[in-house]
Amino acid sequence: MASKLRYPLPWRIKPCSPTNRSLLFDRSHLHLLLLLLLASLVLSSASQHAHEFCSIGDDSGCGSSSTKLLIKGGTVVNAHHKEVADVYVEDGIIASIGPNIVVGDEVNIIDATGKYVMPGGIDPHTHLEMDFMETATIDDFFTGQAAALAGGTTMHIDFVIPINGDLSAGFESYVSKAKKSVMDYGFHMAITKWDEAVSKDMEVMVKEHGINSFKFFMAYKGALMINDELLLHGLERCKSLGALAMVHAENGDAVAEGQKRMIDLGITGPEGHALSRPPILEAEATARAIRLAGFVNTPLYVVHVMSIDAMEEIAKAKKSGQRVIGEPVVSGLVLDDSWLWHPDFTTAAKYVMSPPIRKAGHGEVLKAALSAGILQLVGTDHCTFNSTQKALGFDDFRKIPNGVNGIEERMHLIWDTMVETGLISVTDYVRITSTECARIFNIYPQKGAILEGSDADLIILNPNASFRVTSASHHSRSDTNVYEGRTGKGKVEVTISRGRVVWEDDTLKVTPGLGRYIKMKPFSYLFDGIEKADAAYLASLSAPVQRSRASS
Ligand code: URP
Ligand code: ZN
Ligand code: ZN
Repeated sequence: MASKLRYPLPWRIKPCSPTNRSLLFDRSHLHLLLLLLLASLVLSSASQHAHEFCSIGDDSGCGSSSTKLLIKGGTVVNAHHKEVADVYVEDGIIASIGPNIVVGDEVNIIDATGKYVMPGGIDPHTHLEMDFMETATIDDFFTGQAAALAGGTTMHIDFVIPINGDLSAGFESYVSKAKKSVMDYGFHMAITKWDEAVSKDMEVMVKEHGINSFKFFMAYKGALMINDELLLHGLERCKSLGALAMVHAENGDAVAEGQKRMIDLGITGPEGHALSRPPILEAEATARAIRLAGFVNTPLYVVHVMSIDAMEEIAKAKKSGQRVIGEPVVSGLVLDDSWLWHPDFTTAAKYVMSPPIRKAGHGEVLKAALSAGILQLVGTDHCTFNSTQKALGFDDFRKIPNGVNGIEERMHLIWDTMVETGLISVTDYVRITSTECARIFNIYPQKGAILEGSDADLIILNPNASFRVTSASHHSRSDTNVYEGRTGKGKVEVTISRGRVVWEDDTLKVTPGLGRYIKMKPFSYLFDGIEKADAAYLASLSAPVQRSRASS
């Protein structure tokens, strides 16, 4: 990869030494040995950028490993309720919530008066260290997660891409990539070919590896794209396993035609990307996937809903009672496609993603749909390439790696554009950035809630402070940011990951290897009653009709 990795402000990330005694002394020796081994692997892989971080073992800012923490006087927000209360955390778990909790001297106390205490964000859609379009995304499970924590996201679900269609090989490769994790994460898995081995492996992924969702790409012809026959097999298999089928909904054959049309017209720049794959192709695939899921009677999750056209297909299906989840992403909500016409290639190319960012107006309608519950949760599709990587497509937009950043910006931008503007309430904010994701992927209330017994993944947001996005100050490895220069109200001042303060005073204190893989069980609430609808369908057939042979 030709990209240059950089951190203009090296002190912004402090990878704490995994040998930190205060952190590890209460763990078993075996655990300690494993962590040391892991740390040496992680740190040796990070050594190529050693100059980018504080010196390893610098414990000065890393002492936030107190197992006891009291957050005092904030407004505690859940998806359905908010109240002024204290939150007491012990050993990474929320131990109690209530007024005026009294604690001993050994407890680390944070004053949250006048601020919101909320469940950390859960990003349902990321691509860290993904091999894609002749390169690989530049944020890995260390930098991508560090960026997430700095922006108030404490868990994400990444897409495992099979290797030559092989699910187990893909899974092993992602297990290895994720060893440097600094926060909790889960996996979805893409299905890119179909045979008996894939069908069997899907069961292994669900039953042994805690994957409860599979993604089908209806676009990226010649690479990840699947056809309707495969999609039908996949939907049936998902249903039988209680796994959620997800689709990237664009008509890949038509996109390939649209691309050829643009090239024939001499349109080779980034604007050709938007022109080659208009909303109608997203709507067509969305409608097709919805109808096939309806035919199979299994729930469907449509990722990165970018257009009014696709959203309306989801709204129609929901009105008819079908279980369809629509996920808009931040870029589709707050950006418009005018950037793709920018005369500077580097500027224009950074906005290339699929489905494309749409014309002004789509974002506003998608936000309204989100506030009305037609769309249910917000992701990022964080899939970051730097300007050197984007330049692979300088002469041909088809070769520009598709993807934009967002994992660090999502929580701030949704607060600013939806809560600050009065579109949604603070409780709705928690619902669409955290709780709904936890429910859909069956990890609620371990995640997505401030309840006794839940993981202490928390943020403290100051509604009176402001944020500013710049590539010079962000934590992604990319040299560009599609939200460059944006400012707004509401700032995540503290992020707590399983009871550890990992972001405070604009400083990250993270430990590679402490992120935990969260297994997700099948048969979420979306599957409740599916069998009853199947029974009703069978009962409605009035078939087979018993006939006697016609007499001659
Ligand atoms: O442009 C995008 N969305 N890149 C990531 C891969 C995908 O389609 O989700
Ligand atoms: Zn996609
Ligand atoms: Zn994606």
